[in-house]
Amino acid sequence: MVADTSLIAAAVKARSHAYAPYSRFLVGAAVKDEHGQVHAGCNVENAAYPEGTCAEAGAIAAMIMGGGKRITEAAVVGAGDALVTPCGGCRQKLREFGGNDLVIHVCDERGLIKRSFTLGELLPSSFGPDNLA
Ligand code: THU
Repeated sequence: MVADTSLIAAAVKARSHAYAPYSRFLVGAAVKDEHGQVHAGCNVENAAYPEGTCAEAGAIAAMIMGGGKRITEAAVVGAGDALVTPCGGCRQKLREFGGNDLVIHVCDERGLIKRSFTLGELLPSSFGPDNLA
């Protein structure tokens, strides 16, 4: 798929707002909803470490506040040699609003795509809302 450059730009911008005084690992994320609207978030750490939240969680919260219910494309932005793939908890959070075919672009801090994954690749045999239907 051709990546939405505005989605990636939103994730890059969101990363500049990251509050990460403990890890110093800044992350930005953005999701596009079923209306074509882009919502972004950054990681927000806490002195009580487990209370920190990931960038993806912030982007998803912004989407829900903005009236979106379905994620059609996502991007995560971070620095370093390793891929900043969504953590396990965020894969499950994304699963709530996207299926196996949801494309997630994993980008460097400038927004260059390092690799794109489907959610099905990142979270195979997942448990989702349909399991409760
Ligand atoms: N982090 C994210 O925001 N998203 C991810 O998918 C991976 C990790 C954040 C959490 C924490 O604030 C920092 O990166 C280091 O783990």
